[in-house]
Amino acid sequence: MVDLRLQVVAAVMGAALATAAAGSGQFEFQEATVDAIQLGFRSGSLTSTALVRFYLDQIARLNPLLRAVIEVNPDALAQAARADAERAASGGRCAAGLHGVPVLLKDNIATLDRLNTTAGSLALLGSVVRRDAGVAARLRRAGAVILGKANPSEWSNFRPVASGWSARGGQTLNPYVLSATPCGSSAGPGVAAAANMAAVTLGSETDGSILCPSSSNSVVGIKPTVGLTSRSGVIPITPRQDTIGPMCRTVSDAVHVLDAIVGYDELDAEATGAASKYIPRGGYTQFLRIDGLRGKRIGVPAVFFQGYDDLHTAAYQKHLNTMRRGSKILGSPTSSLPRQPTASAPRRELRSDGWTRFPPTGWRS
Ligand SMILES: *[C@@H]1O[C@H](CO)[C@@H](O)[C@H](O)[C@H]1NC(C)=O
Repeated sequence: MVDLRLQVVAAVMGAALATAAAGSGQFEFQEATVDAIQLGFRSGSLTSTALVRFYLDQIARLNPLLRAVIEVNPDALAQAARADAERAASGGRCAAGLHGVPVLLKDNIATLDRLNTTAGSLALLGSVVRRDAGVAARLRRAGAVILGKANPSEWSNFRPVASGWSARGGQTLNPYVLSATPCGSSAGPGVAAAANMAAVTLGSETDGSILCPSSSNSVVGIKPTVGLTSRSGVIPITPRQDTIGPMCRTVSDAVHVLDAIVGYDELDAEATGAASKYIPRGGYTQFLRIDGLRGKRIGVPAVFFQGYDDLHTAAYQKHLNTMRRGSKILGSPTSSLPRQPTASAPRRELRSDGWTRFPPTGWRS
């Protein structure tokens, strides 16, 4: 099945529910989902301009503490006004997809505008990119508002740093537990989504950089199959593994974003050419069904969940049981596994930013 080619990480700790006050005329900005935003646009209870103002205000209030955002786009309000005008001119018809929806991008994703693209590093400050990254171009084509850049672990942790720290952005903090790791390297996107600093965000992953911060900040990340989303214009680590994906508050939001950014890009031709044939006709939103797991067989590689304490293991089992309703889970439950890797198992180091075997243990600058 096409949709199983995605590696979907559902919110581990209860994704927030939409609280759009549909029909009441009063738009509920906190925790607003893409569906609620589209409804607001269509009913006239919301404008893109009001939405951008809300997020700019959230960033101004929260970012001095959370440091999830490096820069806001000086043109965001102008883009929102244009989206509002287009919607009015179209009689509401373009209140679909991401039209008029503010997006924060991890700072390694190039945008050809007044924003810098630096992967958090001072070394790239003031450099000018040639063009929008492939995914940024797709966001613009979908009518999204580029709200700003989110703080990564500098160079996406290719040069090892503390999770969520960059020289430009400082230390991103986990909004739920300030002393806990936000995880990286897409720390800023995860925290910004969790703390309502943007409707939706984009992160990138080589090895855990979408999955781990999504998990740590209770948001939903999708790590697309390599090549499903273009890597052109994204500061790389390795073309074999790099991938760009949504980090949002709900599964549905993440799928709306995924729909907007997937597809062939001649500047990442080999990978996107190979992967784009798996994109389902009509996009991914058709799979957003409450009984969507029915008839699915899901493999659970138990090796990924070993050595955790009882609290974590119980939460993990509970979520597996939820998924088990209506679907078939393959693989052994963690309770039947040894608590620690056996002597013959390959040594892997579990770091605060996910599984990693590179660079070599001990290399820290
Ligand atoms: C980009 O960096 C320059 C410094 O080189 C800074 O003056 C400018 O304000 C930055 N752009 C934004 C949108 O913050």
